[in-house]
Amino acid sequence: MNSQSGVESDFFLHFVSGRGKRRARRIAAINLEVTALFKDLWKRRVQLVEADLLKELRRTQSLDENLMRAMEYSLMAGGKRLRPILLMAAADASGSTGEKFITVADALELIHTYSLIHDDLPAMDDDDYRRGKLTNHKVFGEATAILAGDALLTLAFEVVLRQADVPPETLLRVVKEISTAAGAAGMVGGQAVDLRSEGVQIDLATLKLMHTGKTGALFKAACRSGAILAQADDNTLRDLTRYAEAFGLAFQITDDILDVTGDAQILGKPTGSDAKKHKATYVSLTTLAEAKRLAQAAVDDALDALSNFDSEADFLRELVQYLTAREK
Ligand code: IPE
Ligand code: IPE
Ligand code: MG
Ligand code: MG
Ligand code: MG
Repeated sequence: MNSQSGVESDFFLHFVSGRGKRRARRIAAINLEVTALFKDLWKRRVQLVEADLLKELRRTQSLDENLMRAMEYSLMAGGKRLRPILLMAAADASGSTGEKFITVADALELIHTYSLIHDDLPAMDDDDYRRGKLTNHKVFGEATAILAGDALLTLAFEVVLRQADVPPETLLRVVKEISTAAGAAGMVGGQAVDLRSEGVQIDLATLKLMHTGKTGALFKAACRSGAILAQADDNTLRDLTRYAEAFGLAFQITDDILDVTGDAQILGKPTGSDAKKHKATYVSLTTLAEAKRLAQAAVDDALDALSNFDSEADFLRELVQYLTAREK
């Protein structure tokens, strides 16, 4: 498995190359052209997030060097940095400038990275590769991987409070959004549903609930936090919430599809992981074709949620289409 380095990862190259385009069309039947504006903004913001994450991490004076190395290993292993990107894009769509809220955006990536480290553990999905590298527990051992996850989660809440130039009551609202989304009512709850659904027959409603939790909750918190930080009005917040819900669903259905149709080298994580663990996924519960149709329906719903917005939401429009046609 190749290791990849964040910003200059091959993520875009697979889309701009002929092979990537053909494949993207095959997967989601979307005629996907990434605009230069979209690509440039994404790249700039990924760079910003990565530099800032490293800065925030290095401010920590850990009692244990090995723990620190384990945290940095997964945090700086690349990744699409989607949740920070989404937060910033939602702030843009609400009439502000996403970059202003980089610190809260960092916190979401810290939580997401912790969730990936734990998701890969032998007691959970038992996977060996993540973001193109060996999983955290494969390098540092299970105990340190668990602690690295714990420390990243805790660091997120230390970092969020460092956000500058935001009224305290706004920041408190955002902390509530993020903590609720990360916990039993959101991501962790969804992971629990995922685990108890292994090898058993569940219905589509339960599957949707699971996706809404394990993946949707953090995306929703990202969008809502971006809007709240930008002091969005109620209608804007409502529309961006609806966008995020549809976005999360489209994203996780695509993740389920890629676990079957994807290329492990490009994905940076193994394929066939869901089948190996007898996971309930959109592909296992329906068919590949139906899963693609449902992903497309979620994309349409996300786009519809943005109908009250003008060009300030163009990035969000491109993002949901782009990610559903992605290869990684
Ligand atoms: C993977 O998330 C886990 C899911 C929620 C499906 P991403 O696909 O955003 O992973 P990275 O951050 O790019 O590695
Ligand atoms: C995991 O979903 C979602 C979280 C980490 C919260 P998956 O188990 O499908 O994610 P991948 O496919 O391992 O990235
Ligand atoms: Mg999992
Ligand atoms: Mg997994
Ligand atoms: Mg998956």
